[in-house]
Amino acid sequence: MRQLAAKAIDLCRRIALCSEEPGITTRTFLSPPMRDVYRALGGWMEEWGMRVRVDDAGNLRGLREGRSPRLIVASHLDTVPNAGAFDGVLGVVLGIALVEALGDSTGVGIEVIGFSDEEGVRFGVPFIGSRAAAGTLRAEELPEAALAAIREFGLNPEHLAEVRLASDVAAYLEIHIEQGPVLESLNLPLGIVDAIAGQSRLSVLFRGKANHAGTTPMALRRDALAAAAEWIGVVERIASAESPLVATTGSINVEPNATNVIAGLARIGLDVRHACDQRRRTAVDRIITAANDIGARRGVRVEVSQRLDQPAVELNAALRERLARAVSAAGFPVHHLSSGAGHDAMILAPVVPSAMLFVRSPGGISHHPEESVLLDDVAAALEAAVRFARDWGQAGV
Ligand code: HGY
Ligand code: MN
Ligand code: MN
Repeated sequence: MRQLAAKAIDLCRRIALCSEEPGITTRTFLSPPMRDVYRALGGWMEEWGMRVRVDDAGNLRGLREGRSPRLIVASHLDTVPNAGAFDGVLGVVLGIALVEALGDSTGVGIEVIGFSDEEGVRFGVPFIGSRAAAGTLRAEELPEAALAAIREFGLNPEHLAEVRLASDVAAYLEIHIEQGPVLESLNLPLGIVDAIAGQSRLSVLFRGKANHAGTTPMALRRDALAAAAEWIGVVERIASAESPLVATTGSINVEPNATNVIAGLARIGLDVRHACDQRRRTAVDRIITAANDIGARRGVRVEVSQRLDQPAVELNAALRERLARAVSAAGFPVHHLSSGAGHDAMILAPVVPSAMLFVRSPGGISHHPEESVLLDDVAAALEAAVRFARDWGQAGV
C-alpha cells in the first residue's frame, strides 16, 4: 500500500504544477490548467477500466461498473490562490488508487468524482460541482460569466440538471486532509468526521466618496477604506469573544486603489463559521449591524450581499461506524472529530449517506504552499478505504 500511496502523493505534487500562475498553485473553476488535470487523472482512470467523462458542471467522473448500490469516492480539483498540493485533489487521487488497489475483487460499483469548484474562488460561488451532483444547483444561481466559462470549456449549462447523481448511488466517501492541528496534536494518522461546521459567506461593500488626499480635510472625508478598516477590527473582536466561532475578512478590493486618493469604494469578503447555525447567524447579524453603524457615522453607504448560508451538517452515523471499523481493522486508532473547514461532503450529505476520512495535516497547515501529508498516513487512509469498500461490497448496502 505504501507504494500506491507514494504514487498518489507524487501525482498530487505533479498536479500542483497545473496552475494559472507559474511557480505557485492556483487552479480555479474550469481554468485552462484544469484540462491538464482531467487528462492526467482521466488517463489513470481509463487504465483501470473506468468509463471517464466530464459532466456539464465540469466535474471529472470515472465510473467502474459493478454491483449496485454504487459507492461515490470524491473531492474537489480546484484550489485557493497560492494553495498547497493536497486540499481536494488527494481525495480524488485516492479514489482512483482505491480502484487500483481493489482490482476487481469486490464487484462494487465505484464512481470517482473530481468536483470542478468547491472553493468558489473564480466566481464567488462555492460548491458548484457538488451542488450540481446533489441536484441542488439551478443555472440561474450562477453569474453569466460562470455560464460562459462552462460553454467555453465545451460544456452545456442548460444540461446542469442532468449532472445529478444516478439513483443507484447509496453512499459517498470523501478522503481529505484535516487542514487543522488536531490529529497532529494527538499524534494520529486518521480521523473520522462526525460533523462539518456551517458557514456564511458575504460580500460587504463600503461606498464613500473618492477625493484628493492632499486637499480634503479629515473631518470632510467619506473614506470607504477607513470605514472598512474600523469594521474589520470589530469583526475580529466579535469573533474572539465568541469562540469557537471564527470570522474572517480574507479578501479586499479598493477603488481607485491609489495612495494619493481617498478610497471611494472598499469591498470585503466575510466568512463566518460555527458548528451551531443559530450562533453563526446571530454573529453575522451583529457583524452586519456594526458595519451599518460605522457607515452611518462616517457618511459611507454599506451594501451587503449574501453569497452562501450553508448549514452545519452531521455525517451519516451508520457510515461513520462502518468507517471506524475499517480504520480499526486496518490497525489504526479510531478518533472522531468535527471539521471547521467546509467540504463537498456537506453538500452531498442531505441527498446521500456521506462519510469523511481525515488525513493528518503536518503543522496543521493548509490553504498554503507548505501544506503536506506523510506517506505512512496516506498509506493508512488507503488501507482503511480498501477495507471500507470491501466491507461495503460484501454487505451490498
Ligand atoms: O473554505 C473551506 O473551508 C474549504 O477549504 N473550501
Ligand atoms: Mn480548501
Ligand atoms: Mn478542500
